[in-house]
Amino acid sequence: MRFILDPVHHQFQGGELAYQDYFDHRGALLLGKGQEITPSLAAFFNEQDINSLYYEWTESCNCLNDDSYASVLLNFPLTAPWLHLIYCETSLFRPELFFQAVNFIDQLIEHLSDLSSDFELLRTSKEITYKHSVNVALLSYIIGKAMNFKGEKLRRLVLSALLHDIGKLDIPNEILNKPGALNLDEFAIIQTHPTRGVERTSNFLLPEGVLTAILQHHERWNGSGYPQGLAEKKILPSAQIIAIADVFDALTTDRPYHAALPPYHALEILLKGSGTDFSPKVIQAFLSTVQLYPANSLVTLNSGERGVVLQFSYPNLTQPIIQILFDSDGNSIEKKRVVDLSKDSSHFILTIQYRGAR
Ligand SMILES: [Fe+2]
Repeated sequence: MRFILDPVHHQFQGGELAYQDYFDHRGALLLGKGQEITPSLAAFFNEQDINSLYYEWTESCNCLNDDSYASVLLNFPLTAPWLHLIYCETSLFRPELFFQAVNFIDQLIEHLSDLSSDFELLRTSKEITYKHSVNVALLSYIIGKAMNFKGEKLRRLVLSALLHDIGKLDIPNEILNKPGALNLDEFAIIQTHPTRGVERTSNFLLPEGVLTAILQHHERWNGSGYPQGLAEKKILPSAQIIAIADVFDALTTDRPYHAALPPYHALEILLKGSGTDFSPKVIQAFLSTVQLYPANSLVTLNSGERGVVLQFSYPNLTQPIIQILFDSDGNSIEKKRVVDLSKDSSHFILTIQYRGAR
């Protein structure tokens, strides 16, 4: 593995959002992707050597390599192009789970045209919403599996996820893609999309529960959602799952109105919403599926040393094997040293600077 600090040649402006993670000359993280660059920070950055961070791997890791990703693209043309960000740049999920999900969703999309021509219309007229729907279906599949959804129940969940925003076909693009904040009238129009989705799809022979999930995917655990203000178990389990997948994908994807957040920031936001916005049970199921410290993540240990995650294994998700790159003073270490946190109780991970955050 080669660790590269690449100088950033950019004149920073106060108020802009960080396009990528920024590091100082020693590799210390200065600012994470998506965070605001204040005027004083911009002035500071313009005077310093600011770097982005790259890795070049020579050893195998448990993420998808270019060849296997190319074969996924070939085999699953309906799904894979949209899943690149969520998997390949984040390594958030185990590869086998990713393959299962892609396979399942790809087949379902193929049959979806028999059930509803609107999905094809979504693909051709609302590209952002289409990609989002596929991503939400992937995440819903993964959460559903963790909650022991099987067979027809799992199929209905993923179908609901693919169609959850179908009502956005009736929302003008000027409102959907507005770069700034929505005014009250525009927000009221957006809030009609679950009901419009049900109206659009009610003539199709969709399996039981799909319409309800479409209607309820913006309901919140504490009753603060829309359109009906339902709470807790009055919300269909599949709608509870889609709500979480929906928010996670919206946060981690670039939108006209915000830059994507690193997945770990998004996970923190979801965790904060557990028990208020989201079902605690579903949040736990989601967390149980993610690789907390995927290979290549840059982490800081309690000793102050900084390194990259080489490998982790179940069930030791929080105790991966780390290769130390910098000592506690921030000096680069020439000789490779590897620490297996599952066997070394004196060391633990203090912070993580996410690899995919650039
Ligand atoms: Fe929605």
